[in-house]
Order: sequence, then C-alpha cells, then structure tokens
Amino acid sequence: MKKIRLSFCVLLLIISLVGCSNNTSSETPQNKTPATTTPSPTTSADAPSAGPESENKGEGSNILIAYFTRLGNTDFPDDVDAISSASLLVKDGTLVGNTQYIANLIQQNVGGDLFLIETSEKYPADYDETVDQGKKENDEKARPALASHVEKLDNYDVIFLGFPNWWYDMPMAVYSFLDEYDLSGKTIVPFCTSGGSSFSKNIDTIKELESGATVLDGFTTRDSSMDDFSPDSVKDWLSGLDLPK
Ligand SMILES: Cc1cc2nc3c(=O)[nH]c(=O)nc-3n(C[C@H](O)[C@H](O)[C@H](O)COP(=O)(O)O)c2cc1C
Repeated sequence: MKKIRLSFCVLLLIISLVGCSNNTSSETPQNKTPATTTPSPTTSADAPSAGPESENKGEGSNILIAYFTRLGNTDFPDDVDAISSASLLVKDGTLVGNTQYIANLIQQNVGGDLFLIETSEKYPADYDETVDQGKKENDEKARPALASHVEKLDNYDVIFLGFPNWWYDMPMAVYSFLDEYDLSGKTIVPFCTSGGSSFSKNIDTIKELESGATVLDGFTTRDSSMDDFSPDSVKDWLSGLDLPK
C-alpha cells in the first residue's frame, strides 16, 4: 500500500512539473525583442535605412540609383527633430530623407546599386539656413564639389536619378554629378520629391544636359505624403517602365 501511495505521489509530482513547464511557455511573456530606434544596417531587402552613404555593390546589376537628399548631406545633431522637419522621415525606427526613401524602394523592387550624391561641404542642420544656402547656390549656379564618385559607370545601363526639388530646380550638387559623367547611351529615370512643385522644369534640364541619353518618365511625390506613403505607387510606376535588360 505504501509503495502504491509513493508511486502515486511520484506520478503527481511528474504531472505537476510537466504542467508547470507548459505554463511557462504559454502564460509568461515571450522573449520579446526590445523595440529599438537604432538603425540596422541596410541590405537591399531591408526596410529603407539611412545606411552607408554610398553603396557601390557592383554585383552584376546594370542599374545605378543615384540620389541627392538633405539627410545624407547634413551633419545633424543626434537629437535631430525629424517629426517637425519637412525633409526627414522616420520609417521603421530609422531616419531617412524623403528622396532616399524612394531610392530605397526602387532598389527593393528592381535591385541595383544605391549611390548618394554627396557634397564635400555639408549643409547646415538648420532647415531655413539650408533653404537660404540652396537659393544662393542656385543664383550663383554653383557646382559644389562632390565627395562621392561612381566607380564603374560602364557597368550601368540604367541610371535612376533622384533629387529633392530645390528652388524649382535640382540641387546644384546634382548638376555637379551630371557635369562629372557622360551618360550617353544610358537610360536615365528621374525621380523627385518636393513640397508641391513636382519636377518643375527638371526633366527637360536633364534631357538638355545629357542629350545622348534616353530620359524616361519620372516619378514624383510630395513631402507631405511621405508619412503615409504607399510603397505600391513606386512598384506600379516601375512595372510600367520599359527598362533595358
Ligand atoms: C533648399 C530647399 C529648397 C526647396 N525648394 C522647394 C521648391 O522650390 N519647391 C518645392 O516644392 N519644394 C521645395 N523644397 C522642399 C523639398 O523639395 C522637399 O521637402 C523634399 O521632399 C526634400 O527631400 P529630401 O528629404 O530628400 O531632401 C525645398 C527644400 C529645400 C531644403
């Protein structure tokens, strides 16, 4: 009888231990990854990220996605106020420029190498000061020196060219970029973000400056729509393009 009682107790103990271990997995919080605002490194499959300033992956794609954006051309303090800025976005916990965000979406859809058109001199962190400097550069038709350079332009047949509208024009650094390279024989696909001016005259300007290139219809969107931006609009635009293979 003693033996039976002992066996019964052992059985009860085993059952209660198994029960406990099941409860542990179903009732206590799972091992949650803490929410983070730290940007993770960009890969082409990742959500858009500030990422390295220039990513020349050169892994066989014939597509270069060259873009200018205020974010990559400004030394912002760590506590930059992205919420109230017209040209800074937080997507998936990561700070991105408006034009950069579109560039990243293009890369996610068609692949290619991202390339930031980066000036040697940074722009002021203060938005209004940058607006003033942009006006001055525009009036002077300045050609800011560039810190980034495309290594193997011959590898690319398609150049996506992205920029924010600055004073109804392209930022002067984009002119510096177009002055530096002869894009004859290539297909240029412009994209632009703006406060509402869209491309202004810039498609024609690109055609004039790169007369030997084929310039396709571009994509443009407003800065005010970036927070709720539908990535499908970029996908739909891209699927209608006849890009050289
Ligand atoms: C110097 C400067 C000039 C601008 N000029 C115009 C303009 O003429 N028309 C317009 O619609 N938006 C203008 N904007 C707004 C930007 O085009 C817009 O916020 C853009 O999405 C910023 O893109 P980014 O974050 O990639 O720099 C200007 C912004 C700056 C900083």
